Amino acid sequence: MTGPLILGIESSCDETGVGIVRGHELLANEVASSVEEHVRFGGVVPEVASRAHLEAMVPTLERACAAADVDLTELDGIAVTAGPGLMGALVVGLASAKALALALNEPLYGVNHLAGHVAVDLLEHGPLPSPCVALLVSGGHTSLLHIPDVATSITELGSTIDDAAGEAYDKVARVLGLPYPGGPVIDRAATGDPKAIAFPRGLTAAKDAERHRFDFSFSGLKTAVARWVEARERDGEDVPLADVAASFQEAVCDVLTAKAVDACLATETRSLLIGGGVAANSRLRSLLAERTAADGIELRTPRPGLCTDNGAMIAVLGSEVVTAGRPPSALDIGADSSLPVGRILV
Ligand code: KG4
Ligand code: ZN
Repeated sequence: MTGPLILGIESSCDETGVGIVRGHELLANEVASSVEEHVRFGGVVPEVASRAHLEAMVPTLERACAAADVDLTELDGIAVTAGPGLMGALVVGLASAKALALALNEPLYGVNHLAGHVAVDLLEHGPLPSPCVALLVSGGHTSLLHIPDVATSITELGSTIDDAAGEAYDKVARVLGLPYPGGPVIDRAATGDPKAIAFPRGLTAAKDAERHRFDFSFSGLKTAVARWVEARERDGEDVPLADVAASFQEAVCDVLTAKAVDACLATETRSLLIGGGVAANSRLRSLLAERTAADGIELRTPRPGLCTDNGAMIAVLGSEVVTAGRPPSALDIGADSSLPVGRILV
């Protein structure tokens, strides 16, 4: 395997990730997570995440170099998440990458986190079909993207207008008295009847088709679950956890899969890729497999360790950007917490 030797740094949320790739070959993917430090707050605390990145950055970098058996001086470039994400957290990764680039006299590539979630699939399933559609679902983002070329051209077809899919899982878990992060817990608890309670499917009404065909909304669903649970408790009745979890999960997965398949059909795209923490969800995977097969769409699902935030996804995006012949970033680029997905390279 050939290609540029790129180090990637990710620090947009609560994972400090350092990955090393050579072209499409994964050499190291070291991640230090601060998730345990956020559990008692029921969600990521930005200041806590930033401090954790600061402490984890150098040890994670050292572990990645050791795992890949690579010396920093051999690198062809340093890629780093420039956004979107938590400002304080992004700044730690960006400052680290700039320091390395300057000290080693190597080019810096400030890249888009969302594009990284797409590019990571290259490491597992080889070159991306052109075009492909990606469904990105995590605690921080829920988007449908149309991708002619991950290094040069991405368009957002739609995104959430309120809560992200993972955020809805985390908030509903809290309503049900379950721990953070709620996604995996609800996934396991959802053993009941998915049709037991008819929870709302956001932005799927005929009137939404024109303006919000590929957008999502999960805030109404979260409120509907909370109201339903409150009503049962008020009446002194038990809350049937397995049925509530299954019905909530079905509502989320039904909307995600229907819109993802619709996006493929509308753009005449034959490949669908999924990424982000929620892509680990068992019902999302089975329903997507069913619905994509019915329409003859190829489904690409990176393994869970590559779906969640990591440095390898940033490294491989950097490698694609270098291979596409794009010029490096300036050393004075800033972090952009709301970097639009169309800006792949800053
Ligand atoms: O991508 P990720 O690790 O971090 C970011 O938010 O960027 O995603 C974390 C989110 C959390 O909201 C978590 O509850 C959700 O992914 N999640 C799941 C599952 N595993 C993680 N949601 C549903 N089902 C799962 N199995
Ligand atoms: Zn992410």
